[in-house]
Amino acid sequence: MSKSISGFSKLSKNNKIDWIVETYFHNKENAKNIITQYWNTNEKLQQLHDEFIENTITNYYLPLGVAPNFVINDKIYTIPMAIEESSVVAAASKAAKFWQDKGGFKAKVLSTTKIGHVHFMYDGDFETLNSFFQTNKSIFIEDAKPITKNMEARGGGILDIELKDKSYALDNYFQLHATFETLDAMGANFINSCLEQFATTLKRLAAEDESISSIEVVMSILSNYVPDCLVRAEVSCKVSELSDNPNIPGEEFANKFIQAVKIAEVEPFRAVTHNKGIMNGIDAVVLATGNDFRAVEAGIHAYASRTGKYRSLTHAKIKDGVFTFWIEIPLALGTVGGLTGLHPLVKLGLELLHQPSSKELMQIVAVAGLAQNFAALRSLTTTGIQQGHMKMHLMNILNQFEANTKEKETLISHFKTNPVSHSAVYEALNALRIETK
Ligand code: MEV
Repeated sequence: MSKSISGFSKLSKNNKIDWIVETYFHNKENAKNIITQYWNTNEKLQQLHDEFIENTITNYYLPLGVAPNFVINDKIYTIPMAIEESSVVAAASKAAKFWQDKGGFKAKVLSTTKIGHVHFMYDGDFETLNSFFQTNKSIFIEDAKPITKNMEARGGGILDIELKDKSYALDNYFQLHATFETLDAMGANFINSCLEQFATTLKRLAAEDESISSIEVVMSILSNYVPDCLVRAEVSCKVSELSDNPNIPGEEFANKFIQAVKIAEVEPFRAVTHNKGIMNGIDAVVLATGNDFRAVEAGIHAYASRTGKYRSLTHAKIKDGVFTFWIEIPLALGTVGGLTGLHPLVKLGLELLHQPSSKELMQIVAVAGLAQNFAALRSLTTTGIQQGHMKMHLMNILNQFEANTKEKETLISHFKTNPVSHSAVYEALNALRIETK
């Protein structure tokens, strides 16, 4: 029977584990072993991980892979990717290799503005509120100076604050809509601190002004929707160079590929899966570089819906015999602050990428998404996805059946020329075990 507990966070790590094991597991020894075998033997490193969050009991591993040979704006990168899905790194590497001798990927940051709001309720007329805001606007900026001083010295800071009337959507609802430049930081803490200061200033000034009654601040928070923090990445080549399969002419491949993209532009059911494949690449690099993949996911999917309909994030065309395939996405990323200076693997990943600026990282991440989509569409419109996917998944199935090294070697060789399926692997492994008994 499960129990609730009070004061759990105050227990020591060992006592937390003991309580969980005692309360939830039949085989207590096995549960405890699983939890403790993922501890790092380096105590300092383990403590660092313990302290990232509350109630840490162990570490949850994901593989960290690398995809080499990415040419981006004429520079070669090996991209770190943290992901559990078998075929993602292989697909990225294949796409990188394919485009390497065709000029590589070109990427460009289009804008870097981040956004945050003080959401508040006001029961009065907009004209009065607006004249109060315009009179006091410079005080909001001035009051935030202790927070913005360092960022300003580096060239960033608050770009603007606007008053927005949202009462057409919700009675009495108004906003301070603020825009920021946060340079190489993702900027969440900086933006939220500025916004909370704006809220304090707003309440103080409103209390001092007789014409402004009843302002109630509801919350102050950045927005993870960053449509003015945009990056574009593209690849292009002559249509005739597009197919490396002698059985499929470049033009036929290009046309089918473009149709697949167009389907994702008009059909939301397909667009979600199409974009999910893009996020396979994006999330893996965002995670490996210590950035907030939930923020990136939420912002990108909102952007995919900006026309009122959920659509493909990538586009493709043929013009004058040249095939072009591109992506445009909002990305708020940091290469300083947050986990970037703390997690040893994140530091390693950033060093592998030549210590990129946040703009350079935006370009790398967008390229990873585009490459992933190229690889997925190439398979989907030619061989189908399962052939490559199941080949990569073979090792998972072999591990599930506890195949030993010798069995793995034999079966990997066998499945080079035979279709992989769960039952086919099961049967082949059984047959091998009977044969070698
Ligand atoms: C699987 O993780 C991703 C794909 O489904 C993407 C797509 O269909 O484009 C292969």
